[in-house]
Amino acid sequence: MKINVLNADVTTIEGHALLVNLFEGVEKPGGATGAVDDMLGGIISRLIAEGEIKGKFSEITLIHTLGSMLVERVVVLGLGKQHELTLDRIRQVTAEGCRFLRKRGVRKITTVVHGAGIGGIEPAIAAKAVVEGSILGLYSFNKHKTAGEKPQEVEELSLVEKEMEKIPALEEGCAIGEIMAEVTCLARDAVNEPANLMTPGDLAELARNMALDEKLGFTVLEEEQMHKLGMGALLGVARGSKQPPKLIILRYSGNPSVEGAVGLVGKGITFDSGGISIKPSESMWEMKGDMSGAAAVIAAMRGIARIKPQINVTALIPATENLPSGNALKPGDVLQAMNGKTIEIISTDAEGRLILADALCYARQQALSPIIDIATLTGACHIALGDICSGVFGSNPELVSRVISAGEQAGERLWQLPLYEEYKEQNKSEVADVKNTGGRYGGAITAAQFLAEFVEDTPWVHLDIAGTFLSDKEKGYRVKGATGVGVGTLVNLVISLAQAHTQA
Ligand code: BES
Ligand code: MN
Ligand code: ZN
Repeated sequence: MKINVLNADVTTIEGHALLVNLFEGVEKPGGATGAVDDMLGGIISRLIAEGEIKGKFSEITLIHTLGSMLVERVVVLGLGKQHELTLDRIRQVTAEGCRFLRKRGVRKITTVVHGAGIGGIEPAIAAKAVVEGSILGLYSFNKHKTAGEKPQEVEELSLVEKEMEKIPALEEGCAIGEIMAEVTCLARDAVNEPANLMTPGDLAELARNMALDEKLGFTVLEEEQMHKLGMGALLGVARGSKQPPKLIILRYSGNPSVEGAVGLVGKGITFDSGGISIKPSESMWEMKGDMSGAAAVIAAMRGIARIKPQINVTALIPATENLPSGNALKPGDVLQAMNGKTIEIISTDAEGRLILADALCYARQQALSPIIDIATLTGACHIALGDICSGVFGSNPELVSRVISAGEQAGERLWQLPLYEEYKEQNKSEVADVKNTGGRYGGAITAAQFLAEFVEDTPWVHLDIAGTFLSDKEKGYRVKGATGVGVGTLVNLVISLAQAHTQA
């Protein structure tokens, strides 16, 4: 979809459709909506008076202009109560409005910049949200459909603004919004891709092509090097699969004058059957998305490469399948991770923490700091928080709050869960240093505590996205399937860390 900013008066817009808005409780619309209302002979105010238009959040009213304006249709989007307006609501109504028009075959949409200048929302930020909402809301994954109805794509979105001085800021906001939404869609594509077409090798290939495009450093550690490094936990999980495991490494150098780099680590299980501790078959297909952490990290690296913050970032993606076979890892087996710690396997289905253990050790060896890992780690996190927010864990309160606000700006909600020492008890093993499951209770926390064994004293944050990586409904800018969660949080976090560095 082509995105442009148009310096014009809404009343002069031509084309298929114009999106305007209304706050709840407004009787006589002003601004752009008021100007359109005048052109339409007061139909909007009349529909408000009659109670058909209330301005409630996400309300959509279609008006055919029938020649009274150059544009064929006007859509009035309800923004809800003015004091409740958020950036996320701007994304959501824009998404709903764009999908509504796509269903009606509209290919060119013009919109006002919803919320610009209201309640402290700067025009550039509002424009960013409008662009994000439209791209994310219009996303669909239909590359494997050879027949049947594919939605008619929207070709062009124009943001209209009549004040010339505001145009540069709006253009800048659009550019960033386009990057953010495009990279989120890249993560969605990778997660939606079936596991037969997204093996560890395919994931490495995807990362490699992206790295070439964006001029990022790229390396893959193969099985042999994993053996040399002593990555027994990652290799243990990979044993059941015929697909060779990969440890994918991407490097972005935005501040070559300093040595350190931020570490982003993403769980890349391209299919999680549970292994010998096999999962029930009913929703096992969802486990093609068990590389959502990896996808978020790869996509975030693309976003970072395009936005170019002044900071160095290294991404690590341990990738393998988790399958049962005559050669697979078994409950009761003992593995040794790269830092020498031994792990008793209680469930082969708790494989994410195993591959992350070695990746985290490697991140430490590379002196990455802080380290942020992201993983579809535990069903327990889904049970605890539902699909509204992801779990966040961390040893450093300042870093945790920085991550939470990075998420907030991206419309990705995060809720902190505790890392009290006492939970470590549950991971104690009779035969090894730790075991890979901590029992039924507090499962998201004991998994995080397990990871903590391998990051030791490095500032670290862990994101558990098991509840949020998939959406079972179409709502706002989320559509059914992969959400691309984490991408926005990671990109914003890296920008925020870069700003903190340059200020210091
Ligand atoms: N990938 C799963 C977690 C998961 C479940 C993600 C549902 C998304 C949706 C993970 O590898 C897993 O199987 N975890 C087990 C851990 C248990 C055996 C301690 C779980 O949560 O059941
Ligand atoms: Mn599992
Ligand atoms: Zn898993």
